[in-house]
Amino acid sequence: MEYLSIENAMKQAKGNVKIRGWVYRERGSNKLRFIIIRDSTNIIQCVFEKDTFQERFEELKNVQIETSIEVEGIIKKDERAPSGFEINATNFKVIGESANFPIQKDQSQELLNDNRHLWLRSRKMNAILKVRSTIFGAIHEYFRSQGFYEFHSPTLQSTQSEGGSDVFEVKYFDTKLYLAQTWQLPAEAGIFSLENIYTIAPSFRAEKSKTSRHLTEYWHAEMEMAWADFDTIISHGEGLLKHVVSKVLETNKKELEFLERELDDLTATASKPFVRMTYTDALKILKEKCNLEVEWGKDLRTVEEDELSKLYNTPIIVTHYPKKVKAFYMKESANDTVLGCDFIAPKCYGEIIGGSQREENIDEIKSRLKEQGEDPKDYEFYLDTRRYGSVPHGGFGLGVERIITWICGLDNIRDSIPFPRTMVRYYP
Ligand code: 4AD
Ligand code: MG
Repeated sequence: MEYLSIENAMKQAKGNVKIRGWVYRERGSNKLRFIIIRDSTNIIQCVFEKDTFQERFEELKNVQIETSIEVEGIIKKDERAPSGFEINATNFKVIGESANFPIQKDQSQELLNDNRHLWLRSRKMNAILKVRSTIFGAIHEYFRSQGFYEFHSPTLQSTQSEGGSDVFEVKYFDTKLYLAQTWQLPAEAGIFSLENIYTIAPSFRAEKSKTSRHLTEYWHAEMEMAWADFDTIISHGEGLLKHVVSKVLETNKKELEFLERELDDLTATASKPFVRMTYTDALKILKEKCNLEVEWGKDLRTVEEDELSKLYNTPIIVTHYPKKVKAFYMKESANDTVLGCDFIAPKCYGEIIGGSQREENIDEIKSRLKEQGEDPKDYEFYLDTRRYGSVPHGGFGLGVERIITWICGLDNIRDSIPFPRTMVRYYP
């Protein structure tokens, strides 16, 4: 007889079934044991009666939490059981013992972090990781359906791109390289071959910030397009988020329910046009509606992004930031602004996308690099993209863990990735 997943056994709903998984909870008396088993799909209560098992019943007393086990029995509906079904066991086989599993009920966050490799088995992580998988699939799906090619930049790079202070240095034989902060600079060379390209890859930021939004290693979904104007770039950001959120709403109802996620902003994101405003308008709104005064030229801080996000239930697209708060490659626009945009998530989940039209003027790029203390000579390969057949182009980057955190409604970005890397956490 074939093994069924717990989900499929429950679909079968009656008759004989054979399942396998790990012990999630166990309790009982000298005559009866209730063992809840989990697999990747669900949990189910199995009942073991002394009358059925006779002397083998003693074996069950050693079956502790996280023991791996195979169970055969008769499945039936039971409203009182945790997932609405119960298996009356007729046979079982312990596969791997488990003595004193380190995670029991009500443990501190620190202990869960130290035992991350074991905490992955929790129902909460199981639900989040399923949503995460849907999101990665949906990103590939969106770009491929729009005619983008997948393109890869090196992780070991010879220059910084998003600001020298946040970059990890790597000893590389007799020289020094940097872990990629973004795929962008090599990708800007790639569009001259493939025109429309995307990637999902790890990016690294040595930010010394212990916030609930920052990882030092995160997955970055990025796109770059030849011949594109600012509006086209922004529309793809909106299209991508709509597709991802719709896909999760369609695929992961059960998980969102388990995570107790209210869906108002997600359904709005999937169906309504996003709010769009310039940086200058954002300052006006912050002053009028939130009583927050920001001096023109200062970057928006977390508090300001959060207050703005409370006013709407879709992401907000803020455009035309002051040139001096943005990266060297963004195209200059009127009044000391750039054609750069940030997408701010609803419900105080912060910046989820950063993008821009790229500067084509080579002298402007060189002078902005120098202002940041960089030597333009180190960027010769990049400057060649402006020398040989330059075209209008642009792109954006989306922080995948940032949207998982938002979509799952998590308190901390740490739980959006299996093995988080932060300033203070790099084991396991
Ligand atoms: O705004 P950023 O720095 O933009 C870039 O890297 C551009 N080169 C992207 C491009 O145009 N191709 O980063 C993009 C996104 C942010 O909006 C945020 O969602 C995410 O990356 N991000 C982080 N996510 C988790 N932890 C961190 N430390 C992050 N830093 C940025
Ligand atoms: Mg940014």
